[in-house]
Amino acid sequence: MEMYVDSANLEEIRQAQTLGLADGVTTNPTLLAKEGDDPMAMLQEICKLVQGPVHAEVLSLDYEGMLKEGRELAKMADNVVVKIPMLKAGLQAAKAFRAEGIPTNLTLIFSPGQAILAAKAGATYVCPFLGRLDDIGHDGLYLLQQIKSIFKANPDLETRIIAASIRTPGHVVELAQMGIDILTVPSKVLSQLERHPLSDAGIAQFLEDAKKFK
Ligand code: E4P
Repeated sequence: MEMYVDSANLEEIRQAQTLGLADGVTTNPTLLAKEGDDPMAMLQEICKLVQGPVHAEVLSLDYEGMLKEGRELAKMADNVVVKIPMLKAGLQAAKAFRAEGIPTNLTLIFSPGQAILAAKAGATYVCPFLGRLDDIGHDGLYLLQQIKSIFKANPDLETRIIAASIRTPGHVVELAQMGIDILTVPSKVLSQLERHPLSDAGIAQFLEDAKKFK
């Protein structure tokens, strides 16, 4: 199982690296905008910092625009993965990038049908957003289960799954149990995973008792 950092914040990425939790990084326009710097410069920094794949999203919604932007992103560093929104033009672009040897991530996947089309188009990764489905009262984890079982039943589909829009430590545990290839996790959830009140109470108790050492 690989774990990526779902962030464009250099400090959060560095922190995750110290814990072995930065096999890659996913960014999106919202995450880059939060940092307030030049997005291309930010992406370049992230690509230098991280050895694994760095997912960088195109803004164009048309095929030609996606190709132009994606090629520019891919030129930036060897570890860039071009993130493309789930649209007909996005599927066409994924197919073209496949032929050019540029890795892609078909993002904003909300149904198993979309994941099948993305895989058939030759996307390297699909990115189902489970938290956003939960937000509207659907079952995000069930979508991940469906995609996992479809890809397992059809080994000719070589696309890897990145579970995105992870909101809770419970999501991480369920996804790990399912054997999802890659989990991209925001730093808030990483911190929540690390902490447990009984760990804190146990540490405090041990330190207290250590004062009684003779
Ligand atoms: C990552 O690739 C996605 O863009 C990200 O996980 C979306 O998360 P959100 O639904 O919390 O914005």
